Amino acid sequence: MNPYETDELLGQYLDFHYGPSHFHTPNYPRACVELALATHTGQRERALDLGCAVGRSTLELARTFDESIGIDLSHRFIDSASELARTGRLAYQVRDEGEIRSEQMAELATLGLSDAAKRVLFQQGDACALNANLGIFDLIFAGNLLDRLPDPAAFLAQLPSLIKPGGLLVISSPYTLLPEYTPRENWIGGFETEGRPLRMLDGLRQHLEPAFTLIEPTRDVPFVIRETARKYQHTLAEVSLWRNTLATST
Ligand SMILES: C[S@@+](CC[C@H](N)C(=O)[O-])C[C@H]1O[C@@H](n2cnc3c(N)ncnc32)[C@H](O)[C@@H]1O
Repeated sequence: MNPYETDELLGQYLDFHYGPSHFHTPNYPRACVELALATHTGQRERALDLGCAVGRSTLELARTFDESIGIDLSHRFIDSASELARTGRLAYQVRDEGEIRSEQMAELATLGLSDAAKRVLFQQGDACALNANLGIFDLIFAGNLLDRLPDPAAFLAQLPSLIKPGGLLVISSPYTLLPEYTPRENWIGGFETEGRPLRMLDGLRQHLEPAFTLIEPTRDVPFVIRETARKYQHTLAEVSLWRNTLATST
């Protein structure tokens, strides 16, 4: 069973994206998009959000992009994101304690996202086998997706042809490498080789250069996901920004 198809994670992610802030931590999808847009000075025609979950970053991108497409493997996440964009409101439940849950409401108007919702499109799909008709984008965001993929290298290999010359690739990840998502033989970093650590950022460089150039420095962006009223995951993602430079010179 894909955990991202369950009631539990649907509630957690709707709360993570549209619910209240916890422990004074800014909204994570919004913070990642703001960070990306502070660097992206180019065109804002088309944005692609891979592993978009319930869609907050897709909507944040649509504040300034003409078109923002969100793709996720989870049918339930995509159905919820689509309904929220269509109606502006979506009720969801969060676990408080044991079997006790409380009802919450995601509301785009209160987040200033009603207009952005007109420019989003959500599609169920596999980020490792993207539809050849997707077209080309000014900016691609992959938020906390990399360490949920069975083959990160295959995922990364598709990206150069999807981003316009000078376009921006934004990858955020806490690098939570788990064999149940990514078989150990497919890890691109997070291990020692020849007596030296090969970190995930090193692995990203190996797979993205020379098509992409890392824009230094990377940033640490915290996030908090509420599991129950008394249990929260507090995590630190690394956000790396990559310019599609190879295409610029061809
Ligand atoms: C850790 S969550 C991150 C979601 C969101 N980007 C965020 O930062 O809140 C990982 C997401 O990736 C999605 N996902 C996992 N494998 C995928 C794949 N092969 N293609 C597209 N989405 C995938 C999951 O369904 C889930 O929504």
